[in-house]
Amino acid sequence: MDIRIKLLLVLVFIHVLLASGQNQDFVYLQALKDNWKNTPPNWVGSDPCGDKWDGITCTDSRITSITLASINLIGEISGDIGQLTELQMLDLSYNKGLIGSLTPDIGSLKKILVGCSFNGPLPDTLGSLPQLSYLALNSNGFTGKIPPSIGNLTKLYWLDLADNKLSGPIPVSDGPTPGLDLLLSAKHFHFGKNQLSGPIPSQLFSSKMTLKHVLFEDNQLTGTIPLTLGLVQTLEVLRLDRNMLSGDVPSNINNLTLINQLFLSNNKFDGPLPNLTGMTILNYLDMSNNSFKPSQIPPWFSSLQSLTTLMMQETQLQGEVPADLFSIPQIETVVLRNNRLNGTLDLGASYSNHLSLIDMSNNFISGFTQRSRYTADLILISNPICLESETTAPYCDHSRESNSSYSTPSDNCIAATCGLDEISSPNCKCSYPYTGTLTFRAPSFSNLGNSTIYTSLQSSLMSSFESNQLPVDTVSLSHPTKNSDDYLEVTLDIFPSGDERFNRSGISRIGFVLSNQTYKPPHVFGPYFFIANNYDSFSDLSKRKHKSISIGVIIGVSAGGFVLVLLLVIAGIYAYHQKGRAERATIKNSPFASWDPDKGSGGRPQLKGARSFTFEELKACTNNFSAAANIGSGGYGMVYRGSLPNGQLVAIKRAQHGSTQGGLEFKTEIELLSRVHHKNLVSLVGFCFDAGEQMLVYEYIVNGTLKDSLSGRTGIRLDWMRRLKITLGAARGLQYLHELADPPIIHRDVKSNNILLDERLNAKVSDFGLSKPLGEADQTHVTTQVKGTMGYMDPEYYMTQQLNEKSDVYSFGIVMLELITARNPIEKGKYIVRQVKEAMDTRKDLYNLREVLDPIISLSSEQLQGLERFVDVALRCVEETGNRRPKMSEVVKEIENIMELAGMNPNAESASTSESYEGKSKGNNHPYLTDFSYSGGLLASDLEAK
Ligand SMILES: *[C@@H]1O[C@H](CO)[C@@H](O)[C@H](O)[C@H]1NC(C)=O
Ligand SMILES: *[C@@H]1O[C@H](CO)[C@@H](O)[C@H](O)[C@H]1NC(C)=O
Ligand SMILES: *[C@@H]1O[C@H](CO)[C@@H](O)[C@H](O)[C@H]1NC(C)=O
Ligand SMILES: *[C@@H]1O[C@H](CO)[C@@H](O)[C@H](O)[C@H]1NC(C)=O
Ligand SMILES: *[C@@H]1O[C@H](CO)[C@@H](O)[C@H](O)[C@H]1NC(C)=O
Repeated sequence: MDIRIKLLLVLVFIHVLLASGQNQDFVYLQALKDNWKNTPPNWVGSDPCGDKWDGITCTDSRITSITLASINLIGEISGDIGQLTELQMLDLSYNKGLIGSLTPDIGSLKKILVGCSFNGPLPDTLGSLPQLSYLALNSNGFTGKIPPSIGNLTKLYWLDLADNKLSGPIPVSDGPTPGLDLLLSAKHFHFGKNQLSGPIPSQLFSSKMTLKHVLFEDNQLTGTIPLTLGLVQTLEVLRLDRNMLSGDVPSNINNLTLINQLFLSNNKFDGPLPNLTGMTILNYLDMSNNSFKPSQIPPWFSSLQSLTTLMMQETQLQGEVPADLFSIPQIETVVLRNNRLNGTLDLGASYSNHLSLIDMSNNFISGFTQRSRYTADLILISNPICLESETTAPYCDHSRESNSSYSTPSDNCIAATCGLDEISSPNCKCSYPYTGTLTFRAPSFSNLGNSTIYTSLQSSLMSSFESNQLPVDTVSLSHPTKNSDDYLEVTLDIFPSGDERFNRSGISRIGFVLSNQTYKPPHVFGPYFFIANNYDSFSDLSKRKHKSISIGVIIGVSAGGFVLVLLLVIAGIYAYHQKGRAERATIKNSPFASWDPDKGSGGRPQLKGARSFTFEELKACTNNFSAAANIGSGGYGMVYRGSLPNGQLVAIKRAQHGSTQGGLEFKTEIELLSRVHHKNLVSLVGFCFDAGEQMLVYEYIVNGTLKDSLSGRTGIRLDWMRRLKITLGAARGLQYLHELADPPIIHRDVKSNNILLDERLNAKVSDFGLSKPLGEADQTHVTTQVKGTMGYMDPEYYMTQQLNEKSDVYSFGIVMLELITARNPIEKGKYIVRQVKEAMDTRKDLYNLREVLDPIISLSSEQLQGLERFVDVALRCVEETGNRRPKMSEVVKEIENIMELAGMNPNAESASTSESYEGKSKGNNHPYLTDFSYSGGLLASDLEAK
């Protein structure tokens, strides 16, 4: 053979070899991309490595890492990821739109981090990733047992399974079956906030273990603490609180002398108080709420010279409180409430100047001695000292509240006045920060009001960002709070340097530094995790957002432990919608074809009270769909106001060409809508299915949306009584849909924009476009593609995709909070539920909510009677899980009760009409001129027709 040909062949061969690996990775990445919405815009072409796709790192043209934190990916993770055989790092953190179960089968993966919405069981194949060293699957919705095969991962040093729905026992090895006791390299067992049960296996611990953090809090573990735990000499943080552990705490626990934070609280320990002598570097000790044998405060408490925090409420302590407890040098907090302590409380001659709270409430303390003036918080309520004498001492005052709020101050400048969604940074520049919540699972301090702490956190964050060369200008911290698991949560805002927005790669890289624990906070903060909010201010997205009236849809987060963060669907759903339209180019044969009214044929829709209009009729009553008659638009088309020949005003929703639905679906929809008649529901007057058009004709509601009135746009003044009446009306409308309509209807898009006000300010619930009837009578939920509007959407529905009427109840709770605050559900990145909960203090007048109330009601002279109960109902509606929320009928009853107490007759027809309201605007405000949610109101079911 000619030497040149040979050479050529060899070259071709080499080329094919090189190309094949690369192409093969491309094919699988492309498959993943097709499953995902919102992939980075520069994911185009066929060479992810050469073209440097955002988030993709390659070595020798093979994909070795995928880091796509916080870019709002939506979709499912597919098995294709397993075909990326060189992949070592997978970081999909904070993409709450990623769902499905995890099925990785990737031999060389070293790190997996996901804080998404994955559910289903953890795959047993996790055990066959021998290189895996870092596995963080926290804050998803995983169910089932911890796979024993994880015990196979001998290189694993980080195992975080916290905040899922894992159940069953903690697996230990048994013959050939591996178990977690084999993880001798592991430093971190983070299993908190799951439903793990059974005893903690004795075999789990041994002196060969090198664990630093054992976090088993908030599970359902039973039995006693195994003696073997005392052998894990490396332990620094131990949380066993919030379980059902019982019996004696093993006496060798004080052999764990490196422990800084120890939580045994909220269990059923019933042996003697453990002797912790020797735990000389212990900072935080919480043994509250156990049934230890009654005992005096032991002298060894005062020997724990590093304590900052001593939490011993309800632990059967009795006798006198030794004064030397308060002279522990760093002591900040001493909580001994609900015990049987007696005698005189003596702070001693030299109590620590770090003390910020002493809570001795509900004991038998009869006197108080201070030798120098003590100014920090002291609570002695429900002690003889407060009960017997009619003392007015501050320590007997119920309503006192320690105020430990913190917010990074401006850096010698005056905060800028910023536009919508922009926030003034500590440097007083307006920009769009990346925000989220830093959660510390076991801090060593308890004085949340010490600003030095936050300053040090801020500077350590900045230096981490700087050393990783991230485009960060400043960070700010705010709202430190302890949640119900005793985690410290701090809001973190990260401001971009240079530009006013981050780009995708910036966001992903920052997300990675926080998700991968690259960032190490100062030691006092202990183990942490970060949950980011979605970043919806990428420049390409925001342009689109401004073009079409807030197509954006936001899913709210509930406060508390439930970490469903934010999801922004914008581009993805929009694209999906467009795609759906294209795919539905062929409309089914019209079932209306046979609807010749004269023939009375069987295909006729079963309509109750709704009539069929011809295109010509509607054309005439809207002046040929003139611009003047156009009162709004949405994703599916236009809304017109028209006047029927009989003088009735109507609102006509006209589907634009290309967004019409199949005839059959249209028929189903109008049949359903025509059956729904209630005075608190906007009723369907008729429809038009003619000349290729699909239109729905509704009664016209003069006073526009509730949102318009709350925002002041209509000039209608909503006083407290009117708000109660509107609440009741809307609640009754929904109650009808849920409990009286046949079949029952779930609205799915309850929001203040979908509650209209008629001339008597009766509330009318509108837009059943997203509604979906429940199927068979015994069916309690339907599984559907998630729809709704951000901020109003039920997180449980979002997580499980199982829709039931409690999802509407959730949204209605948000509307109730809007009614009292006149705030958007999500405003400047703050979620209304959280805002209210944070401001709330049930011991105070109006629950201390004046600050967050709509000034229209809070500044008026009107008595806000029943406001507290109103808030109670609203907060029950937004409980995390549906089964804890009331039914609409219960909400209706409670609002009726509130109205009666406030002296109103809930069944009275209001005589006044809106005409008498001062300043009523006659502008072109209109009920249907609203920010339609992404799928468009009326014809949303077309989305469903995949
Ligand atoms: C454990 O790892 C070995 C290889 O290191 C593998 O052969 C075995 O199948 C794995 N076991 C499980 C349960 O995954
Ligand atoms: C306590 O720890 C020491 C090592 O520091 C060890 O020798 C001893 O056996 C331990 N005691 C118990 C009761 O576990
Ligand atoms: C606690 O243990 C220490 C040493 O381990 C011992 O000296 C002390 O007497 C014990 N205290 C009590 C109250 O049992
Ligand atoms: C305090 O309580 C202890 C035991 O509960 C009792 O022996 C003692 O007399 C009480 N002291 C005072 C001052 O009441
Ligand atoms: C605040 O925290 C710093 C750092 O931990 C500490 O040095 C300082 O003493 C604390 N201040 C108070 C009043 O506790």
